[in-house]
Amino acid sequence: MTDQAPTHDHAQFTAMTEGTQGDWAIIAGHFRDFSKGLPERVLAHLKLLDGDYGGFPVDRLEHSLQTATRAHRDGRGEDYVVMALLHDIGDTLGSFNHPEIAAAMLRPFVSEELHWIANTHGVFQGYYYFHHLGMDRDLRENYRGHPHFEACAEFCEKYDQSAFDPGYESAKLDFFVPMVQRVFARPINSIYAKAVGEGAKEAA
Ligand SMILES: [Fe+2]
Ligand SMILES: [Fe+2]
Repeated sequence: MTDQAPTHDHAQFTAMTEGTQGDWAIIAGHFRDFSKGLPERVLAHLKLLDGDYGGFPVDRLEHSLQTATRAHRDGRGEDYVVMALLHDIGDTLGSFNHPEIAAAMLRPFVSEELHWIANTHGVFQGYYYFHHLGMDRDLRENYRGHPHFEACAEFCEKYDQSAFDPGYESAKLDFFVPMVQRVFARPINSIYAKAVGEGAKEAA
């Protein structure tokens, strides 16, 4: 319980050292509402890949849809399919480390294995083209023996490296929207998760 009912909609402190439980109840309330919009913000960012070809046979949104569709049609679970859909979402802001962007976004919501696949897929995908650029296609061997090595290699082989076919009938983005909404509604690994759960309401 707070000392008194808030009469304003924003915190009153000018430095966090002055913050009160009432201030943080207000902020937590805003966070709960804002976090509900996360799936829509993620999808809006994914759409930035629409029309972005970068020299590839399909644009990056179609590549994302095709990767996710191939995973779904292969019987993968919802978390896996969402990881597949978002694995290249970092292309716009992470031009030199795009896998880490998707991995960071997914981390609160998926298993450690799916996070690892998203985070490391760039090196594993390189097996299919690094040698064409004078690079070492076997860079992934640095991870040989890692518990998720085979899972990441399989993701790239089955769904990622194969998802550049302009003739493939990918599912539309709308098909995946409910999956993104469900996965991003369940933070399972975040120090802030309590702020959107019952714990925050009790603390407030
Ligand atoms: Fe990628
Ligand atoms: Fe990809």
